[in-house]
Amino acid sequence: MPNKPLFDELRAECPLISVGMLTADRTSLGSELELIRRAGVKLLHVDVMDGCFCPMMTVGPPLIRAMKTPLTKDLHLMIQDPLEKLDNYVAAGADMITIHAESSRHVHRVLQTLGKMTNANDLARGIVRGIALNPGTPLEVLEPLMDEIEMILLLAVNPGWSGQAFIPSTRDRLRRSIRMIRESKRDILLGVDGGVTRKNIADVARMGADIIVTGSAVFDGKAPSKNAAFMIRAVADAANRP
Ligand code: DX5
Ligand code: ZN
Repeated sequence: MPNKPLFDELRAECPLISVGMLTADRTSLGSELELIRRAGVKLLHVDVMDGCFCPMMTVGPPLIRAMKTPLTKDLHLMIQDPLEKLDNYVAAGADMITIHAESSRHVHRVLQTLGKMTNANDLARGIVRGIALNPGTPLEVLEPLMDEIEMILLLAVNPGWSGQAFIPSTRDRLRRSIRMIRESKRDILLGVDGGVTRKNIADVARMGADIIVTGSAVFDGKAPSKNAAFMIRAVADAANRP
């Protein structure tokens, strides 16, 4: 498997939260990110939307590059035809890159290409490759991709906006993904993204995800540090008492 060192680090530390920054205060992004880092957050989830794959446009490589932070940059590319654009995101400092199964006719080739790329922050660290699935996409699309991924990211909302409700059928999709990973005999991280709040994070953690994305429930405009600390504790408690 390529991309081992970062993968191993994540595997050893999970379950982890990855905090989405869409609702952070962008006029003081540096200090916003520092707040969550001090609260114990390791992963920064960056939702990249191109106005084409999904209606909103969010951030692109220049802002990602400008985010000077020791947090691991976990990029979720909700963009159409990512192949030609991967270079820019890698150069901007991506540590993890997740592409959508629905975003390209040649998703296997995109993953293969990504597997040959080098982490610009640290040449030895590797880039973790993820494949994301919208809530309406059958899990079977994962089967031929298992050799080319280090992470599966199940969307628990339809991509496009922060603050949507967790779709209940995600629970069953997580359960079936865990089984698929086990049967594949590969070591693949399982992530879940969307609609994770203070109220449901413990329950979501008990569903068995390794990486839990939470955005607007942390950057709620009020108490990002306290929210992040709450989420980290909830996930750790759930892992200790499954
Ligand atoms: C959905 C995005 C999510 C979302 C997370 O389009 O991929 O990462 O912004 O935000 P919350 O946690 O607010 O659902
Ligand atoms: Zn996301």
